[in-house]
Amino acid sequence: MAAVASTTAAGHGAGGAAATLPADFYWGGSTSAFQFEGGASEGGKGKSVYDVPLRSGAKFDTASDFYHHWREDIDLMAQMGFSAFRMSISWTRICPNGDSTVNEEGIAFYRQVFQYLRQRGIAPVVTLYHWDLPLALAGKEAGWLSDRTVDAFLAYSRVCFERFGDLVCDWLTLNEDNLCTMLPAFQLLGPSAFGPNAPQVSEADTYRILHNTLRAHFGAVRLCHELCPGARIGCMLASSLAYPLTPDPVDVIAAQRHNRKTMWDFLDVCTHGTYNPRQAAAMLASGFKPNMRGADGTPFSADVYHMDFISFSYYFSICQADQESAAAEGATTVQTMYASFENPKLAKSSFGWTIDPTGLRILMNELYDRYGLPVMVVENGLGVKDDVLTEDGHVHDDYRIEYLRQHIAAVRATVLEDHVPVLGYLPWGCIDLLSASGDPAKRYGFVYVDFGAKGMPRYRKDSFAWYQHVIATRGAEL
Ligand code: BG6
Repeated sequence: MAAVASTTAAGHGAGGAAATLPADFYWGGSTSAFQFEGGASEGGKGKSVYDVPLRSGAKFDTASDFYHHWREDIDLMAQMGFSAFRMSISWTRICPNGDSTVNEEGIAFYRQVFQYLRQRGIAPVVTLYHWDLPLALAGKEAGWLSDRTVDAFLAYSRVCFERFGDLVCDWLTLNEDNLCTMLPAFQLLGPSAFGPNAPQVSEADTYRILHNTLRAHFGAVRLCHELCPGARIGCMLASSLAYPLTPDPVDVIAAQRHNRKTMWDFLDVCTHGTYNPRQAAAMLASGFKPNMRGADGTPFSADVYHMDFISFSYYFSICQADQESAAAEGATTVQTMYASFENPKLAKSSFGWTIDPTGLRILMNELYDRYGLPVMVVENGLGVKDDVLTEDGHVHDDYRIEYLRQHIAAVRATVLEDHVPVLGYLPWGCIDLLSASGDPAKRYGFVYVDFGAKGMPRYRKDSFAWYQHVIATRGAEL
């Protein structure tokens, strides 16, 4: 169901000041179970790779304690006017041992959450897998290297579709699956892969991991369409949009290579059901020969495994360049999962990430031009350590308002001027949660969670009322 630009009396199209986004556009926010839910040893939940002591000392066992705050948190979302909320299901709350034994308490927990969301007019957008691999399936020779994990994931997905399909209409398969090739050890062991004993993963095994997660993705897409007719399901991409550092064609090639390697190769197979010739050749050269059949034996094909939309995270853009060209420019290297260069044209947040709302517009246009599917922003936002809770319970986060204002304006222009069907805007960590590394200080939310205080009280930040107004005006007033 593609969103179309509204040009009714309430909105005057792209040029007018009162341009609104379509009535069925999803406004909301986004979380994941291991970073938000807590209740790790309650309700019959089994252990995931996040339920082991980590060097960081991260408190994933309690996180933001949504497990005990879900009604209050959903009320806060409803007050802001959310029409959708992205959350993930904790695999081991449903299948504690990673096998097909089902924990009815876990089913009951999520059913009451989904029911209450719907009661408050909020559509649940549910990620099946946001990195919390069952501990029983993890290991140096296991995790997503193993066919067993694919089978277990599909058994778990079937339970989710069968037991929640009457309440959930929008599904995402595996969070940021394209990171597989950049962080292969993470797909075996979860966060402990970042320790000193992280296993080296060969190129062939890296491709095997990618292939297995794709088999899991395809299997879930097929099951969803079979068991939940009318529901929509999509993949979830970690975007990493690269620009050429300069107009020198060698830099253009460097940016093109980066985008292809980190994004298009992955989306090509998700959308076409087959690896593009370049990636297929690289796989074969590594010694890995993919079996192009799903876990149910059906050959991969775009028809059978057709997904309904592409969802993605977008936080910043980067620059790529030919080494000699970068040296000539005196460019500063930025090392994350990959090396890139600082963009001299863009400002950075206090956390050091570039702020590039136009990049969000470029990305959505590029996705739609390439794949012709609707897109959904399921992560975006300003994660900084600057939020201060005042004595009278306020957080003056004008910097976050400014970031979001610019990014929502970019979404609006993408829909109303570029005519790209954007299904929704669900910024990350709408109620404060732990960062992926477990750091409670890096916050994204409209609601402040006092992690150190008894009962983890919630406080509305200034951005809360601002977002409420944005949603009430369907994006016309930013
Ligand atoms: C995405 C993940 O990569 O980025 C989230 O899906 C993560 O789980 C988010 O939290 C933001 O990253 P960080 O490091 O600020 O938590």
